[in-house]
Amino acid sequence: MLDVAILISGHGSNLQSLIEACAAEDFPARIVGVISNNPEAYGLERARAANIPTSVVNHRDFDDREAFDEAIDQQLRSFKAKFICLAGFMRILDSRFVTRWRDRILNIHPSLLPAFKGLHTQERALEAGVRFTGCTVHIVRPEMDEGPIILQAALAVDPEDDADNLSAKVLKLEHVIYPEALKLMAQGRVSISGNRAVIDGARYPEQGIISPVPTS
Ligand code: GAR
Repeated sequence: MLDVAILISGHGSNLQSLIEACAAEDFPARIVGVISNNPEAYGLERARAANIPTSVVNHRDFDDREAFDEAIDQQLRSFKAKFICLAGFMRILDSRFVTRWRDRILNIHPSLLPAFKGLHTQERALEAGVRFTGCTVHIVRPEMDEGPIILQAALAVDPEDDADNLSAKVLKLEHVIYPEALKLMAQGRVSISGNRAVIDGARYPEQGIISPVPTS
């Protein structure tokens, strides 16, 4: 059983999907604590409702990033966490922290990385006129939104979509792939080779999708 801490900053819908997945008896990970840098994060209530210990480590209380990261690290140790999932955690962790937890931190990002790192991903995807968008779960490296990709999910962009409803559609996919990716990690089925994650026993769909579908 893998003991996981979840780091959040806000709404916590990905946290909720992980809470629900971990509730299944045969799920190979359990959530030992939730840490938020934002005392107002709604995700804290979700954790409390599920009887998961919570902690607020407010970045505003620290002089620099190193001190903030150190406080997070201490809290992780007191939760006895062995693995970390960033779930809408909007602070950048410095390279010392990431190195200490190397290959033991997952992040979810609302784009098909390496496209559209950073914020406002669906606005930028729409501006760029891409036909597909989606989300990525990856292993965290010190550079923002970089690291071996575990799972991605894609959907076709409808020209009628605006950034809000596109984000909502992508979020639904996030809730599917994040628990799946955590499960693969907890089962020890992921090996990292350079910047690639190789998944043991995975099946890869052969059929491509074309969007838009041309009509005569
Ligand atoms: C999610 O869309 C997540 O992918 C994104 O923030 C949202 C959090 O929603 N994360 C990032 O942009 C990190 N780079 P949630 O709080 O409801 O899970």
